[in-house]
Amino acid sequence: MDDVLQNIMDHAVAVAREAGQVVREALCDEKQRDVMTKSSTVDLVTQTDQRVEHLIIQSVKKKFPTHRFIGEESVAAGEACVLTDDPTWIIDPIDGTTNFVHSFPFVAVSIGFSVDKKIQFGVVYSCLEDKMFTARRGKGAFCNGEPLQVSDQEDVRRSIIATEFGSNRETETVEKIFSSLRNILNIPVHGVRGAGTAAVNMCLVASGCVEAYYEVGVHVWDVAAGSVIVEEAGGVLMDVEGGPVDLMSRRIVAANNGTVAHRIVKEIDAFSPTRDDAPPTQ
Ligand code: IPD
Ligand code: CA
Repeated sequence: MDDVLQNIMDHAVAVAREAGQVVREALCDEKQRDVMTKSSTVDLVTQTDQRVEHLIIQSVKKKFPTHRFIGEESVAAGEACVLTDDPTWIIDPIDGTTNFVHSFPFVAVSIGFSVDKKIQFGVVYSCLEDKMFTARRGKGAFCNGEPLQVSDQEDVRRSIIATEFGSNRETETVEKIFSSLRNILNIPVHGVRGAGTAAVNMCLVASGCVEAYYEVGVHVWDVAAGSVIVEEAGGVLMDVEGGPVDLMSRRIVAANNGTVAHRIVKEIDAFSPTRDDAPPTQ
């Protein structure tokens, strides 16, 4: 089983690198960045997102024909977002699509692999930085082959916290996002940052550059790969109200340790977006 999983992970790394190359080339071609919208006028997608997801899925299907997929753009096109016990690739072809559209330099290909509903490995390729983040459960986390370790900071007042504003502009949601942000700034923390991609934010936690990342509104494909990268770098995952994390719930805290995670949770004005695995409304 060890060799089988390694073989699958090697393929994930290879296809993420190939996908990253396509994304880099597309950045130089305005047509490849033409914007379409999904759930709102600020939830963006381009033909490159769709092309890259297709490339990854076709490549995996050739080698592993029985595996299942949850891909951001396939779900947007109407496929079910249901995690079973079967081997499943959870794919965000471009995490940071808004960054991609604007050439803001953090864009990642994110691939998580799940068996028995547990993420077995994660690959995040931050393709403009050429950083390949990888982690396999029980085997550590790495960036370009170098081991990763979270920060050992216990004091949230000496921390940088990462978060995002997401793409929901409903007044109540924006109020809650700002209420959490105000609370956290007022702790006070050293700073608040956001790379514009959930996957990269989680890799920043794993790398020890920021102590924690939280967001309400993410999707399973944004955080599946990053979740195992954070845990294997020594970090913890939590729900924004303090319980165990549920990757379908669209709520996440990823932190260097439990002390910082619990402190952040106290300040988050939590809410519950529609789950990723909710049955479609008629
Ligand atoms: C988004 C990014 C963003 C986060 C959103 C995600 P996308 O993913 O990760 O940082 O705030 O919640 O949906 O749309 O660029 O793949
Ligand atoms: Ca995406």
